[in-house]
Amino acid sequence: MRLGRLNHIGVATPSIADSIRYYRDTMGAVRITEPFDLPEQGVKVCFVDTPDSTGEVGKGTQIELIEPYDESSPINNFLAKNPAGGQHHVCYEVEDIEQAREWFEGKSKRILGPTRIGAHGTPIFFLHPKDMMGQLTEIMETAPKDQGSGH
Ligand code: CO
Repeated sequence: MRLGRLNHIGVATPSIADSIRYYRDTMGAVRITEPFDLPEQGVKVCFVDTPDSTGEVGKGTQIELIEPYDESSPINNFLAKNPAGGQHHVCYEVEDIEQAREWFEGKSKRILGPTRIGAHGTPIFFLHPKDMMGQLTEIMETAPKDQGSGH
């Protein structure tokens, strides 16, 4: 397996609406997607685009804002410990998700649940932070046409 692009940083928030205002008004973000629900994952999601190295907005690393969808959301514990929200996970792209799964299994890294379809519509899985230098790590297969910021 070869490490791919840093696709996004997941940021948990008690309010996507407040976070959108923060990224727009304080951070100067010019492109933020409409929030949408991912009930299977227990979250509402939206993406803040950052430019790539050419300055083009929409091809760079994103901030993934995640708000709990309901009381059983997997991010409720995180928000109980971090009421203002905060950095929740990092997501790297790989070319082949099955190969990546085998790679991490071979290194005895704990994979959290099955491979599933993530917020970008491509297969993803998560790795246990205690096996990953303290970081909840999402691995995502690169989107077929481009590189991940596509919706
Ligand atoms: Co993510």
